[in-house]
Amino acid sequence: MTSSSAFSSSPSPSSSFSSSSFSSSLSPADRLGFGAMQLPGRWAGPVVERATAVAVARRAVELGVRHIDTAAFYFSATERANDILRDALHPYPEGVTIATKVGPLRTATGEMYAEARPEQIRGLVEENLRQLGVDVLDLVYLRVGRLKAVGGVPIGERFAALAALREEGLVRRLGVSNVSAGQLAEAREIAPVAAVQNRFSVLDQADRALVDECAAAGIAYMPFFALGGGHTALQDEKLRKVAERHGATAHQIALAWGLARSPAIIQIPGTSSLAHLEENMAAARVVLDEDDMALLER
Ligand SMILES: NC(=O)c1ccc[n+]([C@@H]2O[C@H](COP(=O)([O-])OP(=O)(O)OC[C@H]3O[C@@H](n4cnc5c(N)ncnc54)[C@H](OP(=O)(O)O)[C@@H]3O)[C@@H](O)[C@H]2O)c1
Repeated sequence: MTSSSAFSSSPSPSSSFSSSSFSSSLSPADRLGFGAMQLPGRWAGPVVERATAVAVARRAVELGVRHIDTAAFYFSATERANDILRDALHPYPEGVTIATKVGPLRTATGEMYAEARPEQIRGLVEENLRQLGVDVLDLVYLRVGRLKAVGGVPIGERFAALAALREEGLVRRLGVSNVSAGQLAEAREIAPVAAVQNRFSVLDQADRALVDECAAAGIAYMPFFALGGGHTALQDEKLRKVAERHGATAHQIALAWGLARSPAIIQIPGTSSLAHLEENMAAARVVLDEDDMALLER
């Protein structure tokens, strides 16, 4: 896999802890990525046809996506996100980062039942290497919490297990997901953290302090559920008003809001629809002004 254009340094896999800071000079278009969780479909919902999912992943890269977010635990009854990405994009184009995560353990029918113990982290990283068909993973998050964040729980041992795999050359950059400020600080004591992935959107701005902390520290912040996590989540009066002002959709405003909110933010909206993908990528052209941002502040 290639090194990312989203990070200002590209430590070689064998190097010791060198800095991996996020480049805040990226344009909004460069900060519009793609989340692969919708590609296989859901256990509870319909499975997405492989050909459709492959077409969406390929189109994402054609439209300029340089950051794709996945996990071995994104799968439906018949499809896995990592297999789809490999089918669609391997050998991965120069400059495209594939970020994955380890932590939650899922049953074959999709339920998250436990968090990985430190000694299980290697097997999970190797699973991602195999599925994605690479020797080194660009960015791997330790994803904390089975279903939701558990702020007070120490993550040191598990993060150290992941950091050791970076030292070994299996992982280029490290991230943490679903974490509190305390857990991020704990991780940073162990190894450089290149990215944080937490829940944050125009509708849920509770993590604002951590977004600002990441920006100040040169850490990329990839919000999940930037679109609220579902089809009807963005039915909001203020969003509608701003969307009308710009001749845009609520989904485009939600994405443009994150890009305007912080230079650390790389959006990873999820879709298995070509039409929604095109719409989401066009959000890079929507520039929100101070009045829009003030109206959308919560
Ligand atoms: N670290 C974590 O704990 C964590 C948790 C959840 C997700 N994630 C990551 O975050 C990414 C995004 O999460 P997500 O996909 O669940 O939520 P999301 O991006 O907030 O929303 C996706 C939902 O919005 C719909 N959608 C997308 N674009 C649309 C548009 N233009 N118009 C109307 N509907 C639209 C999608 O349906 P269609 O497919 O029909 O477009 C899907 O139902 C995931 O892919 C995953 O990589 C991480």
